[in-house]
Amino acid sequence: MSLGLGCFDYKQVNMRTKLSVNINKVATIRNARGGNNPDIIKVAKDCEAFGADGITVHPRPDERHIRRADVPALQAVLRTEFNIEGYPSRDFLDLVLRVRPSQVTLVPDKPEQLTSNSGWDTEKEQLFLRDVLNELREAGIRSSIFIDADVRMAEFAAEAGADRVELYTGPYAHGYATDRDAAIAPFLETAKRVRQLGIGLNAGHDLSLENLKFFTDVIPWVDEVSIGHALICDALYMGLEATIAAYKNCLKK
Ligand code: PXP
Repeated sequence: MSLGLGCFDYKQVNMRTKLSVNINKVATIRNARGGNNPDIIKVAKDCEAFGADGITVHPRPDERHIRRADVPALQAVLRTEFNIEGYPSRDFLDLVLRVRPSQVTLVPDKPEQLTSNSGWDTEKEQLFLRDVLNELREAGIRSSIFIDADVRMAEFAAEAGADRVELYTGPYAHGYATDRDAAIAPFLETAKRVRQLGIGLNAGHDLSLENLKFFTDVIPWVDEVSIGHALICDALYMGLEATIAAYKNCLKK
């Protein structure tokens, strides 16, 4: 199958995809024993020292991994990009407006949800998202909206005023082993439309050392991937420094 990259001029775009390390899982381990081991502030700083371009957290209402109090503590020490994900409840918005991270990624999760497993309906939620995006813009915070690989959802996200969209890559990751060209096709189509719309492009969920390189080779204009679960699992065997180096290596053009 042809992936239809056509005559796209790669020199015209930022070709370096940034790696944001999602440290939720590290906080899950910390919380399991009630103390401060592992210390997520140290882990975040070490991720940066080992080459991560950013740190991502998702403070959920039940604080099952990242706690609200972790968020300003991280902001105070991070030197790279800080990305905070979450459902834009009033509580969440007050927190991010106070902390002012580099980026806020809006996810449509219900509070009890295990993990983000679908994107926004940006058409139906257009008015709500528009108001939230205005608040973030006024505070000088870059916004990203989590969407499925769907051209219309990207168009409505741009219309609502998002600076970026983050493509939910779960379905790509699950389809990769059986037919990676078929798995990436809707992502490539949506990514091309995102580029035409003139907004930024992030991607995340279930990305791994197995499937990351193909994704960013086919869609080299991805601005940032945020990766948690697989990266932290790999670090159990390879160590954090070597694992971050391996993920960065997948992003090399
Ligand atoms: N992007 C979003 C919006 C997420 O909710 C998550 C999971 O917290 C990720 C990316 C990272 O997914 P994973 O942990 O599977 O790498």
